[in-house]
Amino acid sequence: MNRAENQILVIFGASGDLTKRKLIPALYSLEIQDLLPEKFAIIGVSRKDLSDNLFREELKDGLNSFSGKPDQNKINGFLQKIYYQSVDAQNAATFIDLKNRLEALQFSLDIPANTIYYLSTPPSLYGIIPDNLARHGLNDQTGGWKRVIIEKPFGYDLQSAIELNNSLQRDWLESQIYRIDHYLGKETVQNVLVTRFTNGIFEPLWNRNYVHHVEITSAESLGVEKRGGYYEGSGALRDMIQNHLLQVVGLIAMEPPASLNSDAIRNETVKVLQSIRPYATEDIMRSTIRGQYVASTIKGEKIKGYREEEGVNPDSKTETFAALKFYIDNWRWGGVPFYIRTGKKLPTRVTEAVIHFKRTPHYLFANKSNGEAHNQLVIRIQPDEGILLKFGMKTPGAGFDVQTVNMDFHYSDLSLTHIPEAYERLLLDCMTGDSTLYARADAVLAAWKFLDPVLQEWKNNPCFPVHGYPAGTWGPEKADDLIEEVNMTWRYPCKNLSDDGIYCEL
Ligand code: BG6
Repeated sequence: MNRAENQILVIFGASGDLTKRKLIPALYSLEIQDLLPEKFAIIGVSRKDLSDNLFREELKDGLNSFSGKPDQNKINGFLQKIYYQSVDAQNAATFIDLKNRLEALQFSLDIPANTIYYLSTPPSLYGIIPDNLARHGLNDQTGGWKRVIIEKPFGYDLQSAIELNNSLQRDWLESQIYRIDHYLGKETVQNVLVTRFTNGIFEPLWNRNYVHHVEITSAESLGVEKRGGYYEGSGALRDMIQNHLLQVVGLIAMEPPASLNSDAIRNETVKVLQSIRPYATEDIMRSTIRGQYVASTIKGEKIKGYREEEGVNPDSKTETFAALKFYIDNWRWGGVPFYIRTGKKLPTRVTEAVIHFKRTPHYLFANKSNGEAHNQLVIRIQPDEGILLKFGMKTPGAGFDVQTVNMDFHYSDLSLTHIPEAYERLLLDCMTGDSTLYARADAVLAAWKFLDPVLQEWKNNPCFPVHGYPAGTWGPEKADDLIEEVNMTWRYPCKNLSDDGIYCEL
């Protein structure tokens, strides 16, 4: 892999949690793998008044807590590449200080004007900061390229996403804008492409002729923790489905791209999102479920309900669980239901996609089977990353009893391979100018377009239920009704890829 050109990375929102927990540890990991540009600097930006040294001290604590391999000598060396500049993002005049600081560092460190601006700030600043950068010519690519990374959520609904997009595109080219979705940076999400397109055995079956339905789950055992204020205005649909889960749908359902270049791949994933059948208002009641965790007791410990969390309205209708059934209207997937669900305070943390294959046309062993009569391919995104194929096998002994057995691959078996954190991969890609794993404007807008009617209906229809589910359970029972087929339910994944079932060890 070619080393990225020399450059400076500016992080807005430098005193925030994301910077400390994810961005700086990811950059440190790149440093120890010798993947950062030869000449490289980071400028942390926020409103606070801080010296470079105080900022470094703050980051050092974060590095010791959140980086996999803290090594004090290496950390100290890495911190020397980090600087701090106070800027009030809302006050255009203060951007001159950033401009001066950038120019001074470029000169003293002999770095060309290649610059990334990472917006790890509240979403209300996603329009203002690029605007203020442009006012000071900080988007000008004459002496070196300029790129801007925008964290999620990109917009609050379709209209606000369009407005944000228009505002960005006034001063920045689409090729300069990197909309980050950290799920695309996960190794196992990228592996969907490899699994599908290097193995001759899966692709011929990957369509409506053989696939019965597709199920995608992203469960979290944590609640909203200290983010009640943010989450109240977001909810599971905006927080997880609009971005992370629909991007995974894009990769699972896309056509093979003509090449591995960024546009070829993104052209195919966007077509999937644009082909999702829009909901008519009357479908929304049938095909979508929202839920909210309520207080419960887990292993003797009392767990708060969502409405008791800090920063949450006691009458809140914000969903902490969402499940959807939808169809992708194209030749490959016509008539195949897709089920996706996500929730907080579920029994375990797990994200996976399951391809459920159709039964054989004539099932000889119908009355003997104690296992599922259809094959499943489980693509485990986290944890216990890997792939599992479930198939029927004869139980040894008399007769023809069939049991379902597992064939599994676990990434942990590749003991010498480092699985990079999503942010490592994504930061490195932006440094080298590769936007394949970033969401393009048309994809983000297509996702909003699909979900906007759901958001409207959930907000405006007072009869639309918010189903309570006890914290620590698999969400509202009502979600089971989405899967209409007899004898079929959601998969109940466990921490270990190879186990499932409501009562397995979590
Ligand atoms: C974030 C959401 O984008 O993704 C969080 O805002 C969520 O609410 C998180 O917890 C999940 O990410 P991961 O990588 O832990 O699955």
